[in-house]
Formats: sequence, C-alpha cells, structure tokens
Amino acid sequence: MSTSDRSGNPVAVVLAAGKGTRMRSRRPKVLHEVAGKPILAWVIEAARASGCEQCLVVVGHGTGDLKRAFADEDIVWVEQREQLGTGHALAQVRELVGDAHHLLVLSGDVPAVRAKTLERLLSSAATGWGAIATARMERPGSLGRVVMKADGVLERIVEAADATEQEMAIRTVNAGLYVLPAAEIFDYLAALQPDNAKGELYLTDALGAAAREREIKCVAVSEADEALGVNDRADLARAHRVLMGRGIEALMEQGVTIYDSRRVVIEPSVRIGPDSEIHPEVTLTGDTQIGRECVVHSGAWIRHSSIGDGSTIGPHSVLDGAVVGDGATIGPFARLRPGTEIGRAVRVGNFVEIKNARLGDGVKAGHLSYLGDAEIGDGANIGAGTVTCNYDGRKKHKTTIGKRAFIGSDTMLVAPVEVGDDAVTGAGSVITNDIPGGALAVGRVRQRTIEDWVKRRKRKDEE
Ligand code: UD1
Ligand code: CA
Repeated sequence: MSTSDRSGNPVAVVLAAGKGTRMRSRRPKVLHEVAGKPILAWVIEAARASGCEQCLVVVGHGTGDLKRAFADEDIVWVEQREQLGTGHALAQVRELVGDAHHLLVLSGDVPAVRAKTLERLLSSAATGWGAIATARMERPGSLGRVVMKADGVLERIVEAADATEQEMAIRTVNAGLYVLPAAEIFDYLAALQPDNAKGELYLTDALGAAAREREIKCVAVSEADEALGVNDRADLARAHRVLMGRGIEALMEQGVTIYDSRRVVIEPSVRIGPDSEIHPEVTLTGDTQIGRECVVHSGAWIRHSSIGDGSTIGPHSVLDGAVVGDGATIGPFARLRPGTEIGRAVRVGNFVEIKNARLGDGVKAGHLSYLGDAEIGDGANIGAGTVTCNYDGRKKHKTTIGKRAFIGSDTMLVAPVEVGDDAVTGAGSVITNDIPGGALAVGRVRQRTIEDWVKRRKRKDEE
C-alpha cells in the first residue's frame, strides 16, 4: 500500500506508540481526553488543518482501542511492535510514504499545537532541509534541550536524561514537531544507535546527525503552551486548561459574557450566540449550541443540547440531548433528558423531569413532575406533581395531551392515554381512560367529611 501524496502536500506522521507509563493507566495515553476530545484527535486535527490530507499514525499500545475510537477517520495505521524510541517509530513508515516530499512529524502527545504554527514550520522547511518547532520555557522539565549553531539553526537536541548541568540550563526546548524530507530522513534513522540514558533510538539524534551536513531551521512556536507534551496526569490537566481557555477566549471575543472564565467548563465544541451570559460553575459540553441573549445560571450542566434565543436556564438544571426553543425558562433544578423537545416560551420549573417528550409552544410545567414518552400540545398547563405513568413493568407507553389542556395537580396519567384539547383533569386524579376534548375528568375517591369527629374521639378516649 502506498500513501504517496502526488499533489505535493506534506504527509503527516503522528508518533503515538509510546507506553505512556507515567500516566499509570490501562488506556493508551493519547486516548485520554482533554477539552472534550482525545489528545490524539487534537494533534490530527491540527495536522489536517495545516494542509496534510494523508495522515499516518504509528501505534503500538492499545492499537485496537485507538482504531475503534477513530473508526470514522481516514487514517493509515502503522504498527510499531516494540517501542524502541521515537526514531524507531518514525522508521516504521518508510515503505508507506511513497513519493511524498516532506513529512510533517508530530508527537501524538502534544495536543495544544496550532495549525498556524505547523504552517509556519512547513513553509520554513521549504527553504532549507528541514525544520523543528521550539519553545522557550522557564521550567523545561523533561523536554529535550535545543542547542543551536547560530540563531535559528539547529546543532543538536539533548534529551534531559542525557544532558549535562550546563545543557539542562538551556531554556529552548524541542516541541516534538518536525518537517523532514521523506527521501533522506530514513537513512539517518537507519544509522541510529541506542547509546543514551534510556537505551532508545532517538529521533532527535538523527536530527543532530543531519544537522552536521544540512540546515535544519528552528521555528519558535507562538506560545509556549503549544509545546506542552502530555506525559503524566499533571500535564493532562495543564493541556486541558490551555485548550479550554482558548475556546473560552474565542467565545468572549464573539460577544459572550462569561463572568468568571476560570470557573466554567465550556468545551471548545460548544457554540454560544452574542449577548448570552454564562454564570460561574456552568458546564457546557459536547455538541451544544446556545442562542443569543440567553442566560445560563450557576450549576447548570448541559451536554449535546440546543437552546434557542432569549432562553434562561436556571441554576442546577441538567440538560442532556435536549432541544429547547426560543424564550424558554428552564429550572432551577430541572432535568431534561434525551429526546426532550421544547417549543417557544415554555416554562419548566423546579424538579420537573422530562424524557422523550415534546412540549408545544407556551406549555407550563412548573413543579415536581415526570413527563416521559409524551406529546403535549401548545398552551397546555401541567399541574404540580403530574406524572405520566409510562412504564407498566414491561413496555413504555405514550401519553398525549391536547392543546390548552389543564392537568390538575397530582394527576397520574396511566399510559397509553390521550387527553383531548381544552380538557381538564381534577387534582389528584388517576386517569386511565382517554378524555375527549373539552371534558372534565375526575378519577379519585369522593371526599367524605365526618362532622364533630374529633370531639367524639375525645369522648371515646375518656370512657
Ligand atoms: C520527546 C523528544 C523530546 C521532546 C519531547 C516533546 C525524543 C527522543 N525526545 O521526548 O526531545 O522535547 O518529545 O514532547 O524524541 N513514541 C512512539 N514510539 C516509541 C517512543 C515514543 O511512537 O518507541 C511516541 C510516543 O507515543 C509520544 C511521542 O512518540 O507520542 C514522544 O515520545 P515520548 O516518549 O513522550 O518522548 P519524550 O520523552 O516526551
Ligand atoms: Ca512526550
């Protein structure tokens, strides 16, 4: 199989076979999520956005899990059976890159890299033999230190484990992102020796060897965060914060008020219209859209949901897979489960749970209700404590409520059941039969009042 790219576009090679031992996880490191997506997904997305159509990913640990997680993506998976180092990992793609001119080589654990930076790296390599991305860091930790011949030209990279005290003091590090000529890099890789502290075949050593004969440009990333490599859970938290922060900044630029940008969880996938206000301690994740001029109060947790313009989500409401129309008021303490569809100007109050149900425009369900597998017409009023008894222990059944119907408080609607337009149920009713439009249905024991009962009981006690 050849993956040559005849258009001259670079081919991306992502190195993702490492054990990631310091994560202390059963999951492959690059499948851990930051800001709502696996680390590897961020890297691949940046590579594609920088113009790489072909994407090869070198894997070795948890290959099956990785293939499953990226089943929808056009990726060529390359197996590195033994993890002998980054140089050995890159060598695995030798037979697969065809006549690609340049390879954009990315570490699979560097999720915060921007496509713009990769584009700069690619155009810089076009004028020389190759290029590497570097970053300035005050605390470079375990990253490789970059030694330059002259400003912007690579001499060699020293891994932290092999560095002298002097080399450790270097503040310019290797970000783990490279552009290399496909026709020549593999010969340098083939000559690698594992004569270093880790006993690995270092890609960085191959660059040092090439740099003796060739010009390799050092391209500084725009911000040091782009070079953040995720090796442990502390790095994971850092990468998560960086990527979340970027999405939140972008929303604020688009005119969204986020009162305390450090105390919200908003995944970069979430879209919010201008003049909406997000209060502290709100969580917005997944495929969520919020319209303009909405207010989302503290403690709201919203996933895969869509909310129309001018709606208010009260404190501590949970929306999961729900669609809410314009001008709705939800909560506080409402729970909208998957399949909930709510029209315009609907009011859903506290402790109301809705699942797989459609509420027409202007419906009111103010307090303490369960509405499941239901269709509720425009303008209906659902009294406090109403329950659609949708489950008979075997199957789920549907409740249909007509337009402008008035469901009295504490009505049990035993499904399947249909309430006609403008119909009314008495409070406390158990409704087991359909109600025609405009009718009143009362299904409860008639009240009995016993006069002077207390007095008579007292007399009895004294006997
Ligand atoms: C590497 C670089 C270091 C750089 C840093 C940037 C080397 C020797 N060092 O160090 O200079 O500052 O990245 O983040 O390259 N991998 C494989 N197969 C292997 C080994 C690693 O596919 O046999 C993959 C890993 O899954 C990972 C990437 O290569 O995604 C980098 O490997 P890692 O072990 O994390 O290297 P670092 O020590 O971070
Ligand atoms: Ca790393």
